[in-house]
Amino acid sequence: MTAAEVRFDGRVVIVTGAGAGMGRSHATLLGARGAKVVVNDVREDAAVRVVGEVTAAGGEAVAAVHDVATDDGARALVHQAVQAFGGVDALVNNAGGAEKCPFTETSWDLFERTQKLNVQGPFFVTRYAWPHLAASGSGRVVMVASKSAVIGGVQDFAHYATAKGAVLAMTRQLASSGAADGIHVNAVLPTALTRVANDGATGGNVALNPLKRGMAERLGIDPADAPRLAAVSAAVVSAVVAWLCHPGCTASGEFFNAVAGHTSQVVFATTTGITDPALSIESVRDGFTRIADTSHLAALPAIWDGDIAHFLG
Ligand SMILES: NC(=O)c1ccc[n+]([C@@H]2O[C@H](COP(=O)([O-])OP(=O)(O)OC[C@H]3O[C@@H](n4cnc5c(N)ncnc54)[C@H](O)[C@@H]3O)[C@@H](O)[C@H]2O)c1
Repeated sequence: MTAAEVRFDGRVVIVTGAGAGMGRSHATLLGARGAKVVVNDVREDAAVRVVGEVTAAGGEAVAAVHDVATDDGARALVHQAVQAFGGVDALVNNAGGAEKCPFTETSWDLFERTQKLNVQGPFFVTRYAWPHLAASGSGRVVMVASKSAVIGGVQDFAHYATAKGAVLAMTRQLASSGAADGIHVNAVLPTALTRVANDGATGGNVALNPLKRGMAERLGIDPADAPRLAAVSAAVVSAVVAWLCHPGCTASGEFFNAVAGHTSQVVFATTTGITDPALSIESVRDGFTRIADTSHLAALPAIWDGDIAHFLG
């Protein structure tokens, strides 16, 4: 017996930045499974094209052309969703990204633009959608973060990783804020080959980039087949995002890795550490091996359960 198909009939879902890449994939999947999709993008032609794709897949959608990195745009997007479909049941804060730049060359302007798109955008679209998500009774918010926020070594992306780190903090705190109203807030840390040609180091040749080559191999796709790599690597992320939009998903405040068909929960954890009411520089030095011993980890809860050990050790 096959498990029942997951459906979103009657649910209104906003997907920001849905004119291309992963957002486009999330919008078409959700629409094909019955959701009424608000396809937001700052580029009208892209949003209209995706509305056509959702409709062709049997879904219902509306193009919502607004810049979510502005207060007016965030507010107008939610207003349009409510006007078009009568409410908001789920929101995917997908619009994001940044141009790479070495840390020591990062300008105030680039940093600020990066925060506006990746932090202020999701914060304010969610803020304006909040009363409608509460009215839904099973509101769901999916934040889109990045592995660069939790794993160092991604070159020339400190400004972007900083923004995505803020998205993780936002996810946890809003999950707490939404609990009483049944609003669940989670984050994905996706990787998809949406911009396969956009790789200065390899000139867009997927075979030369170990991560991208590994993803192509995992998905069983020829590394030279850029359009298929882009579509399939996004589609497997969409499966995770869509489930996080579903009322049947009970997680809240959690982070999920999603890459090349793999998904897993990402946790913040503490080591056993040391405890000494008279802690001195010398006891920190002498206990440092135990402080940093990761062989016994305790995951921090997404939402504080009142156990003071999470703060006191
Ligand atoms: N591609 C990856 O591997 C990867 C990795 C980690 C995180 N992410 C994150 O995933 C999300 C989607 O990435 P992608 O690669 O699919 O993106 P993409 O660049 O392919 O598409 C982004 C879409 O968002 C739209 N957009 C940009 N600014 C906007 C704004 N202010 N208002 C409304 N729409 C706007 C663009 O027009 C575009 O259609 C982003 O938040 C990105 O930071 C992507």
